[in-house]
Amino acid sequence: MTLIDKFGRKHDYLRLSITDKCSLRCVYCMPEEGLEFFPDDKVLSGEEIIQLVENFAKLGIEKVRITGGEPLMRHDILDIIRGINAIPGIKDIALTTNGLALKRMAGDLYEAGVKRINISLDTFKPEKYREITRGGNIRQVIAGLEVASQFPFELKMNCVVIAGQNADEVVDFLQYSIEHPVNVRFIEFMPIGHNSDRDQKLWQDNYKGIESVFDICQEKGWEYEPIGIPGNGPSENFQIKGGQGSFGLIHPVSCQFCESCNRLRVTADGALKSCLYWDDEDNVREVLNDFEAFEALIQKSLNGKPENHEMALAENEKNEFQKPTWRHMSQIGG
Ligand code: GTP
Ligand code: 5AD
Ligand code: SF4
Repeated sequence: MTLIDKFGRKHDYLRLSITDKCSLRCVYCMPEEGLEFFPDDKVLSGEEIIQLVENFAKLGIEKVRITGGEPLMRHDILDIIRGINAIPGIKDIALTTNGLALKRMAGDLYEAGVKRINISLDTFKPEKYREITRGGNIRQVIAGLEVASQFPFELKMNCVVIAGQNADEVVDFLQYSIEHPVNVRFIEFMPIGHNSDRDQKLWQDNYKGIESVFDICQEKGWEYEPIGIPGNGPSENFQIKGGQGSFGLIHPVSCQFCESCNRLRVTADGALKSCLYWDDEDNVREVLNDFEAFEALIQKSLNGKPENHEMALAENEKNEFQKPTWRHMSQIGG
């Protein structure tokens, strides 16, 4: 069975947000005052999540990326991963995390079946980290990264480039990619969950394109070449010659990659989202134990999937068929 939408895109990748809670409140992800978390009874249980992935596997999903909020805040995270790992057809389990709990959990995650970990880190400066994450301690992430490096994970680092905050550190992240076997990704700040005037302004004031990464390589005399990296996300990857790791560019705003979109999303409260940006959702909770109804719901969602999110149009002029999502990034999982 293969999930194909009306634009011929094959979907084999599920992004599964298992909690909207997070130990941080990054400036691009949550509002300053935080968010009211979903009530516990609205959040899918571990058993429901495993049933969900079993259903998706029958429909052709092969890769699952576990996201949050912060997925490691869930006490049953290892049971969830073990359960998913035992499902026939699931070939790849990945995790996106803020890294704070990795020192304690990296080994168990590896044993449970996680193969790839993406860690969010936007600065190497302790004070700046505290500012961007609104209170985080960078030493904890670095310690987590070091422990994770001792296991054979495929490691990626997510660096959202924020004007006036960390743009001057791009060179340090590139240097990091030379010295460590990590794929460092520069990500454009997306206006997800920035619907209020205040949040719109925050996005407008802080958005910065990431093409300057290539200029920096040139200035430093670093030659680079395109490279393939495990994973199937939107990143375009390169390696600086002689480097141990690599770097990637994720530019959803300035350059669209929707034509190769292969992913569906389910949020912690069971909302099926065919596209990160739009408001359109169907709740899968009620149909988890009725495979025919489940399949019909997935097909309906897939049929409604937009061709692209036109996010480059900040004014959203062309956006007559859908509204942007009400959710903040932490309630979707990226
Ligand atoms: P792999 O390729 O499996 O490693 O995953 P990934 O890079 O897609 O995952 P990750 O959770 O690390 O996401 C990195 C960044 O890409 C985040 O900022 C996501 O919000 C963004 N991203 C991932 N998928 C999409 C997508 O379909 N559309 C858009 N606009 N952004 C995405
Ligand atoms: N724009 C781009 N990336 C974001 N992330 C969270 N919010 C945003 C945003 N507004 C990234 C985080 C995390 C990943 C899941 O999404 O850095 O690594
Ligand atoms: Fe938490 Fe990740 Fe959002 Fe930061 S980006 S607040 S670490 S969910």
